[in-house]
Parts: sequence; C-alpha cells; structure tokens
Amino acid sequence: MRTLAPEVAQPAPPRRRFFRPTWAEVDLGAIARNLKRLRARMPGGVKVMFVVKADAYGHGAPACALAAERARAADWLGVSSVEEGIALRDAGVRLPVLILGSLYPFESVLAAAAYDLTPAVASLESARRVAEVALRLRRAIQVHVKVDTGMGRFGVRPEAAPALVRRLAELKAVRVQGIYTHLARAEDDAAFTAAQLRAFRGVVAALARAGLRPPLVHAANSAGALRRPASRFDMVRPGLAAYGLYPGFEPALTLKSKIVFLKTLPKGAAVSYGGTWRARRVSRVATLPIGYADGYRRALSNRAAVLVGGRRCPVVGRVTMDQTMVDVTGVPGARVGDDAVLLGRQGAAEVPAAELARLCGTIPYETVTALSSRVPRTEVPA
Ligand SMILES: Cc1ncc(COP(=O)(O)O)c(C=O)c1O
Repeated sequence: MRTLAPEVAQPAPPRRRFFRPTWAEVDLGAIARNLKRLRARMPGGVKVMFVVKADAYGHGAPACALAAERARAADWLGVSSVEEGIALRDAGVRLPVLILGSLYPFESVLAAAAYDLTPAVASLESARRVAEVALRLRRAIQVHVKVDTGMGRFGVRPEAAPALVRRLAELKAVRVQGIYTHLARAEDDAAFTAAQLRAFRGVVAALARAGLRPPLVHAANSAGALRRPASRFDMVRPGLAAYGLYPGFEPALTLKSKIVFLKTLPKGAAVSYGGTWRARRVSRVATLPIGYADGYRRALSNRAAVLVGGRRCPVVGRVTMDQTMVDVTGVPGARVGDDAVLLGRQGAAEVPAAELARLCGTIPYETVTALSSRVPRTEVPA
C-alpha cells in the first residue's frame, strides 16, 4: 500500500463551514434604525425591550442583540427561555434580559441567576423556587410578574396578581422589578385591547394602594406600542417592528441564493415531483439550492415569485427538500452564478415576508422563524 509522503500530506480542510450559496443577509443597521424610529414615536422616558426570542425571529439573536446594544437602541432584551438568554450572554451581550416564558420545572432558575437573566414569575411555586436560589446565592434576584389579562397563555390571573406580588414582596430575597402582560389582539381589536389594559391597570392600582410600585410596568408589543398609546406604560416590547416586518419599518432580512444550474426546456416538459408544472413554451428554468428543509415552504410551489435580475420570476413545480426551480425565461441575461432573492428586495422589486406568509396561509412571524439552521445568517454591519 502506498502512503502519502509527509511533504504531500493532505491540505488543511478549508475553514469555511458554508459553501452552498444560500444564505440570509441581515442588515443590522436596519434593526438599530427601526428600534430608534420606534423609540422616537414613544413619549420620552419609555424604555424599549427588543424581543429577540426564537433566534431574533430567525435573524440571529446574538448579532441582533449586540447591534442594538452597541447602537444604544434598546434598554432590555426579551427571550423565551433560559437557553436563549445564555446564548446572548455567551456572545457577550450585557443588556438586561427578561425570560418572557415560564421556567417550569424551575431547575433552570439557578442557571438564569448565574447568567444574570431575569425570570418571569406567575405562581407562588415559581416565586418560592426563585427565593430558594436567591438564598443559596446570598443575593436578591429580580423578577417580573406576568399577568394574564386575556391572552390565556402564561400568567397569573388579574384577580390573583396583587396577592402574588404582595407575597413576593415579603420574600426578602426576591425583588419585583417589573410587572407585565401581553396583548392578544392589539393589531385589530381596540375594545378587547382596552379591556386587557383596564384589567392590567386595575392590578397596578391595587398594588399602588398596598404601597407597591414595580419600577417597570409593560404591556405593548409592536402593534400595541404603535397603535394603542395607553399600552405604553414604562416600557414597550417590539419584535415585529424591530425586524421591519411592521408597516413603516425597514425589513432587515434578505433570503438569498444563486442559480446553480440553468437549462432550456422544450414546450411540454414537466418540472419537479408530480409534474405539477409543464412548460407552455420553450422555457429557461433555473435551479436554486434551497428547499423546504431551509424553511422555504413547500406551500410556495407554483405560487411564489423569486427575484432574478431585478424581476419577479415564478417558482415552477414543487419546492423540494433542497432545491427549487424558477422560470427565468423573462430574464434573458440570467446566468449560472446569478443572485436570486427569495425574500426581500432586489433593485426595485420586492418579495415581502407578508407575501410569502399569505401564500402559505400564515403570518410573517412564522415565515422568518421557519428559516432553518441550515441557512447561514450573514450580517451587514450597522
Ligand atoms: C410577551 C411578548 N412580548 C412582546 C412580543 C413582541 O411582539 P411583536 O413581534 O408583535 O412586536 C412577543 C412576541 O410574540 C411576546 O410574546
């Protein structure tokens, strides 16, 4: 058997981890500008909690959080779990972080404290567990109390909230730094939102009568902050607007790929599984290395448009797990290696997240959070 001589040893493997030309470009400057634009529309002194849960709605939480911190565009960050908070701390994020969801079964309270993450509390049991950890660490732990005023998700009911906060105030090791609720219909139901806010204000007033005033009272998501001034209190919690997925803000994410294969098909030729699309004329069909395993949903088959050469080109045939075909007959100059934009802008043309969401019967939140870890996020620096 021949062995390789040392001088012709294997070349070092390349350091890049991603070779496939499919990626999501995240404009960190747009995120910072969106947060500042939103803050400018709030009354002076209202703080901004940038919601970066679910990997910053698929935009890449550490980079987005660091950009907001460096630009002084946010005062707080909101995540959904201890794991998400730890990822921020590991990346060097220093802003205060609230864990918006439940910590049940509460083993993670110690980790939350160790990483300086603020837990949400909505039950006596969770309060007791926080107090135990605080005693163990011999320092007070700050918490925010979550009140359920109509979302029906996680939170103590308004009628039970004052007693819970009073009990927390007795636990010397626990400090109630905030109290918050979440709006279920801020975008389209003024009456329901008003009822939620009434219930929430009732809790805050009952606490005030007992001499308790948590420093941070907060309720508003993007729609609340922008459309319901009564929901602003001490802090607002935008997600959607920060990513530019709310009208009037700059979209930050562009989902890109490149043409990796291009062919001319004769009239009548079928494309992809099931032959659901057939060429009605001689057609130039491009193959993009992106599919439903990347979060580009199969429901977009034969429905979505992709931007090539600044023009909208139809997706043809079924989106497959790893590849998607696009009819580029209308872009005569299209070549292998050309950029394709599946979500976002190219020149004057745009495929907004709302359009892809509508085609899939869902909401922009799901469209962007569905982008899988197989799609590298590249940052356009602020
Ligand atoms: C508790 C909480 N606050 C704020 C937000 C941000 O909402 P939006 O992205 O609509 O601004 C969310 C997101 O769902 C949330 O769950």
